[in-house]
Amino acid sequence: MSDPFQLKQRLRDKQQQHLYRRRRLLESAQGARVRVDDRDVLNFCSNDYLGLASHPRVIAALQSAAAEMGVGSGASHLVIGHSRFHHQLEEKLAAFVKRPRALLFSTGYMANLGVISTLVDRNDIVLEDKLNHASLLDGALLSRGQLQRYHHNDVNNLRERLNALDGKRALVVTDSVFSMDGDVAPLREIATACAEQNAWLMVDDAHGFGVLGEQGRGVLDHFHLNTEQVPVYMATLGKALGSYGAFVAGSDDLIECLIQECRPYIYTTAMPPAVAAATLESLQLLQDESWRVEHLHALIRQFRNGAMQRGIELSESHTAIQPLIVGESGKALQLSEKLLQQNILVGAIRPPSVPNNTARLRITLSAAHTESDIEQLLDVLHAALQSFEE
Ligand SMILES: Cc1ncc(COP(=O)(O)O)c(C=O)c1O
Repeated sequence: MSDPFQLKQRLRDKQQQHLYRRRRLLESAQGARVRVDDRDVLNFCSNDYLGLASHPRVIAALQSAAAEMGVGSGASHLVIGHSRFHHQLEEKLAAFVKRPRALLFSTGYMANLGVISTLVDRNDIVLEDKLNHASLLDGALLSRGQLQRYHHNDVNNLRERLNALDGKRALVVTDSVFSMDGDVAPLREIATACAEQNAWLMVDDAHGFGVLGEQGRGVLDHFHLNTEQVPVYMATLGKALGSYGAFVAGSDDLIECLIQECRPYIYTTAMPPAVAAATLESLQLLQDESWRVEHLHALIRQFRNGAMQRGIELSESHTAIQPLIVGESGKALQLSEKLLQQNILVGAIRPPSVPNNTARLRITLSAAHTESDIEQLLDVLHAALQSFEE
């Protein structure tokens, strides 16, 4: 067969550069312990930060809503797919994050593509942090506006670019918690810089929602930022909430404009109503039982203290994402393999997900873990790193 797109060569290159990706086969529900590739392991690579993905109440909510409403939503939100469960979830999410309104999207990737491409046109500028999630960068590309990337978390560099706008409209976009680094954007300073130049700020709180702020209300609650300071808030439901989908929250005008114009919202099937019902239950659990957020933060402190005592160098992160940067992709893979031999599952993250020569172990902690799980991780990690140095 002809190969005009050089698929064979592309695959060979990836293998040679240790960048080939392989999917593991999961045979159990999400949790601290999972069964993958015929092996029982302690799981430190899921984004199920609160352990809600397989909570009995969440499962029961999904089952009961599916029995009532069926599985498929049948159509897009604007046709006949917008159910009572979707609507209730939008209202509850808006109240929880203290914004006037919220709008559900089928995935976070689509929410980011949709919001940026709806707001921005070809005459505008999109200013993005260098380490923003791929979906935010792709949103800017789809908008056809001019994409500029400022240095990571560098408000001075952002200010210089804002000062050079020359009357053009700008949307500033940043992750709240950076997905591969776990550090938090200086949002107060960024919001002030935006206000000075009349630029709008959009924050993607995929990894902060459910983890930061009172009861896990997210990064804007953590920094006490209102809708005026951050007009566009986006968060996902497939991580700490243990469900699926995403939402955008902001003013009535923003949400109404998205309903009217946002193509990735309009031209796609609504998420199954039972998924919205399950998410409503997760959200209720978040409000009823704040111990999960507290326990997660205690585990984060325990992990960081334990790593320091053992001389393990971690990046500066106080969120559930705790990366250990090793540099070369091959080394990250070997280290992850060594941990797996001891039944500890940690993902090796390599370019292009992270910049060249910064391959890493992306260790993620969850409220589903116990203190002894964290001790086990630390001991195995320490031994693996030592055997590497020998
Ligand atoms: C920062 C960030 N934004 C957006 C997304 C996309 O969300 P979703 O998985 O719901 O498409 C992710 C991860 O998946 C993410 O880490």
